[in-house]
Amino acid sequence: MSSTTTASDLVASAEALVETGRKTIADAGSLAELDDVERKLLGKASPLNEIREAIKSVDASERGAVGQAMGAAREALTEALAARRGGLSAAARAASLVHDRLDLTLGGSGYRRGHMHPVTRIWRELEDVFVGLGYTIAEGPEVETDWYNFEALNFPPGHPARAMQDTLYVKLGKPEEVLLRTHTSPVQVRVMEARRPPIYVVALGRTFRRDTLDARHSPVFHQIECLTVDRGITLGDLLGTVEAFIHALFGPNISARFNPSFFPFTEPSVEFSMTCVFCEGAGCAVCSRTGWVELGGAGMVDPKVFEAVGIDSEEFTGFAFGFGIDRVVQLLYGVDHVKNLWDGDVRFAAQL
Ligand code: DAH
Repeated sequence: MSSTTTASDLVASAEALVETGRKTIADAGSLAELDDVERKLLGKASPLNEIREAIKSVDASERGAVGQAMGAAREALTEALAARRGGLSAAARAASLVHDRLDLTLGGSGYRRGHMHPVTRIWRELEDVFVGLGYTIAEGPEVETDWYNFEALNFPPGHPARAMQDTLYVKLGKPEEVLLRTHTSPVQVRVMEARRPPIYVVALGRTFRRDTLDARHSPVFHQIECLTVDRGITLGDLLGTVEAFIHALFGPNISARFNPSFFPFTEPSVEFSMTCVFCEGAGCAVCSRTGWVELGGAGMVDPKVFEAVGIDSEEFTGFAFGFGIDRVVQLLYGVDHVKNLWDGDVRFAAQL
């Protein structure tokens, strides 16, 4: 401002400032821009401040009018700023409601849940089936004595049937006295020692043999054992029960077939097969074109076993059967090599 500035000049510039200020305020497109505008209009380097400086050069009597005009200008600009700020923040809030909205109806990407191991799944299904048939679940130790695993089951020392079960012995007690159970059949003996008939139990558990790992053999595997002891139990009950659980587990098109066999603890003994679940009996690669898949062993409890546990074989008869759970899982899920079940590779497990 020049030294010839008059009070009315200053009043006019204050009024003009309001005019142009309102426009810049209206032009501010965001709250950040508006902060900038505010600094320029009302801050230290603002034209309003220049008027305040220039006021010194007008006559003292006229300074009041200039001061009033400045005050009015400041007030008008402050008001305009507040109004614009209100408008802009409402708009910003509205925009953020649109952009930052959480749509709770969207499904989201979810997270991956694990699932039961297929052997656990079939294990539990088997338990369900037998509990449904009126059986209870029994358990026995994985480390057994020769008595329960062999002797009481009528495998005398040196019996060739022992040699078929490649036993893993444990360095406990006398040599070859303690072992990792080679089957779940010892649970039969434990149950019959502990309670009197009628007995309707199944025992599922881990079993061990000195097997070399191949597609269908593993040194650690799982079996289910069924034992029924009551008055008047016949081979017909065995066949009917095997057929019933196979139907329950695999459906009505899958049935059971029995072939004569030998086990020391059953007489007579049979091996049983079920219809191949893949070709339903037509013959395919899985069942070597026979239409049947071998499942396990069974038979009527040998009187020698009853004798070992003190059950009168004149009063009671019974049947037993057992088979590998892993084998069933391999069949059902089409697992070509048993090691895949236990490698713990999540890429494999995720497919099942
Ligand atoms: N324990 C036999 C095995 O592992 C299978 C078996 C056969 C179980 C006959 C039984 C049975 O209960 O009666 O080879």
